[in-house]
Amino acid sequence: MEKILVLDFGGQYNQLIARKVREQHVYAEIKPYSGITVKEIEEQGYKGIIFTGGPNNVYEESSPHYDPEVLKIGIPVLGICYGAQLICFMAGGQVSSAGSAGEYGKVTVRVRESKLFQGIPAESVCWMSHMDFISRVPEDFRVTADTEKCPCAGLEDGSGLIYGVQFHPEVTHTEYGKQIFHNFLYDICGCSGDWHAGEFAKEQIERFKTELSGKRVLLALSGGVDSTVAAVLLHRAVGHDLVCVFVDHGLLRKDEGDRVERVLGKEMGLNLIRVNAAGRFLEKLKGVTEPEQKRKIIGEEFIRVFEEEARKAGNINVLAQGTIYPDIIESGKGDSAVIKSHHNVGGLPDVMSFESIVEPLKYFFKDEVRETGTMLGIPRELVWRQPFPGPGLAVRVIGDITEEKLSILREADAVFREEVAAAGLERDPDQYFAVLTNSNSVGVKGDARSYGYVVALRAVTTDDFMTADWTQLPYEVLEKAGSRIINEVPGVSRVVYDITSKPPATVEWE
Ligand code: XMP
Repeated sequence: MEKILVLDFGGQYNQLIARKVREQHVYAEIKPYSGITVKEIEEQGYKGIIFTGGPNNVYEESSPHYDPEVLKIGIPVLGICYGAQLICFMAGGQVSSAGSAGEYGKVTVRVRESKLFQGIPAESVCWMSHMDFISRVPEDFRVTADTEKCPCAGLEDGSGLIYGVQFHPEVTHTEYGKQIFHNFLYDICGCSGDWHAGEFAKEQIERFKTELSGKRVLLALSGGVDSTVAAVLLHRAVGHDLVCVFVDHGLLRKDEGDRVERVLGKEMGLNLIRVNAAGRFLEKLKGVTEPEQKRKIIGEEFIRVFEEEARKAGNINVLAQGTIYPDIIESGKGDSAVIKSHHNVGGLPDVMSFESIVEPLKYFFKDEVRETGTMLGIPRELVWRQPFPGPGLAVRVIGDITEEKLSILREADAVFREEVAAAGLERDPDQYFAVLTNSNSVGVKGDARSYGYVVALRAVTTDDFMTADWTQLPYEVLEKAGSRIINEVPGVSRVVYDITSKPPATVEWE
């Protein structure tokens, strides 16, 4: 399989670069600049290398640098932003501070004759974000693009293998970004475009048939798209030797547990064990109001239930997980502040002993997981399911959790989902749900005073859930959902809509 190396120098858009490459049907892999040597790059047969952007100045000693030999091994290189400046620095050119001439946002770029810019008009819009600029290109290099403020927005060397752009082709605001990637991958690196997530998944199934032959595999199934696709893929490889444990912690949305059991167990034929553990989870959560404590309790209890089931199932050799590629990259990322300790089953291997772990989706981005799910015949409703937090409704019932509150929230949430679906907007917000606040408010219902909970509705639009905008749902949808909740769900006196983006808020309320 052809592959491109995205060498990470600390830029914000590295995942986006890898995705843009994969959209062109070429597999891309992100590695930190300190994680691979030039020799390894040569040995691993990359067709091309992309240097990412980054926040540093190339002259600072502490800035990320790389062995200049990489420019001489005959593998094409494309440097983006800091990556372009780094090429310039490594090859003996000069980078200077732009001072007040730094560019941020959309800028008109003028391109000259270059393999990288084939099919792109002489002037177009690109997206810039830089404080430094290339003030002198190295010997044997020439300038291939400029903007009003930036004399070198593109450069290339005489060999036709080394390229750089000061702007960001991976960002959608760059009009011809896609074309630039296409030119680099196909015309410069000579790729043929052999990456198709679905095809790769088929190959993986064949590989797992051999690798896992005679072994029993255990998978924690949440019903979310990642674990579902991982389960179906492995089921194709090992059939009933895959045991899926679905822990119903009593914090799922209305009818969700039954639906997962029906679709995956009965319709898709998985060997599924549903553990109805609501009682023990609610017991442990009784009186707990602090969000982080709720998450911790749920995470720990989940592991206990899972361990018990694994023991009952007996004789299991392999643990399977639905880890996807961004999880792997992000986990390598060091020490950013913990805003919420997201609960998933990633902690399991520490507490249990398995011969090995398989992660069949570890090479895939989310959209590729969905493509694979569709190829495997998983129903659309599961493939396109919006994300649902591991701790479930526990973080949507603010304050302490009771059966009564969960039941009110389930009903209100179901009404909201029905109304969004009825308006044909199911795929519009990336996530939408109801929250049961711990405020009560006064209302009037049928001439009498009512006193009940305030329900908040939340819908967000986002690419990666790291940042999110609140979704401007049509008033009619909000009106219908609000009035139905008040009328149909006893115990609710008021409905409000959350108009906070992330940051400063988070998606979930707790
Ligand atoms: P926040 O609230 O952190 O949410 O802005 C971002 C995304 O993550 C989901 N989320 C979780 N997922 N365990 C999970 O598996 C968790 O503890 C958790 N908390 C939040 C949230 O639903 C949103 O999609």
